[in-house]
Amino acid sequence: MWAFIAPVPAPKSRYGPAISMQAATERFLVVDDDATITEAICRVLKSMGFESVAHTDPREAARETQFDLVITDFMMPHMSGVELLHQLKSSNPGAVRLLITAANDFKVATKAVNEGEVFKLLSKPWSLSELRAAITQAVEYFRLVRDNKRLTAELADRNTELTRLNATLEQQVTERTNGLLEGMIRALDYRDTETQWHSWRVARFTGRLAQAMGIHGDQLVQIEQGALLHDIGKIGVRDAILLKPGPLTPEEWVEMKKHPELGFRMLQNIPYLKNAAEIVYQHQEKWSGLGYPRGLKGEEIAVGARLFCIADTMDAICSDRPYRKGSTLEVAITEIGRLSGTQFDPRAVEVFLSIDPAEWVRIRREIEQLEHVDRRRVTGEMPAVTA
Ligand SMILES: [Fe+2]
Repeated sequence: MWAFIAPVPAPKSRYGPAISMQAATERFLVVDDDATITEAICRVLKSMGFESVAHTDPREAARETQFDLVITDFMMPHMSGVELLHQLKSSNPGAVRLLITAANDFKVATKAVNEGEVFKLLSKPWSLSELRAAITQAVEYFRLVRDNKRLTAELADRNTELTRLNATLEQQVTERTNGLLEGMIRALDYRDTETQWHSWRVARFTGRLAQAMGIHGDQLVQIEQGALLHDIGKIGVRDAILLKPGPLTPEEWVEMKKHPELGFRMLQNIPYLKNAAEIVYQHQEKWSGLGYPRGLKGEEIAVGARLFCIADTMDAICSDRPYRKGSTLEVAITEIGRLSGTQFDPRAVEVFLSIDPAEWVRIRREIEQLEHVDRRRVTGEMPAVTA
């Protein structure tokens, strides 16, 4: 037999005020083989503002699924309260379970509590205040678990959204940074032709060498940026010196040698280029201490600048100049090996020599392809790509 008792909004009854935490929406399953007990419990629940469904046969109660909390007697025909709660736990694991038990069954019932089958025990005969207190406590617990689950799910959703936003922002920052750097290198190219592709090549060579040194992440990106911008300070060198076809006078050299510092000053106040600016400042320093502008020596020189020197020398030896043809990669590699410990960091040279020379050839070809495409765009053979 079962009975459905609808909730009442007004809590005025001899059982006292309804639960006041928030509007009651929970539904109870009440089970006892004695109908007078289920009716009494359902009346109390109704007075507290809760819906309930009652059964006197535990086998019928075991088929219920639409409930939030369950109150059951322990000793019943066909099925004990503990067995019933065990079955209901698998069909409705989120429900909070209360067990009413006589004193002589207390040992078995306590075992069920310890095994997590039961939230709370109510001993027979129960008083009204005990029943109400147990119901209030169980409902509070049910709401706590439910709210906790909801908040955890909401937090997970927000976290996913934040991760997505973060990735989008990072992508935008990277695109804008790359666009800015490309613009700066083009600006230098307008002043000092043919430097643009040299800058891209040494950036990639330096990056590859840095990777082989075990450098990755932000540091790797900053080293590549520093290598790319290494000669940006030449924008500030007078045409008469920068574009002079013949050799420079000692006075002109003094001015030309200011370009690392000029480049550093251009970049030093751009927060995300701070480390790149330091490489620009140090790109003419030598391991031996005989470089410029500050004559830094050995590990006083930033690792990115030390790696750049190797990449720059390789590119300079292999590239054509107006007054000579570029040499082979083998010549460049031999020269770099020869200058290990004087011009270059010996550890960096060791790593450089361990890299397959085919990689340098591949990188050079990739940049040549970019150069080819860019030339066709500049001459109008290919339409410019618009973002
Ligand atoms: Fe330079």
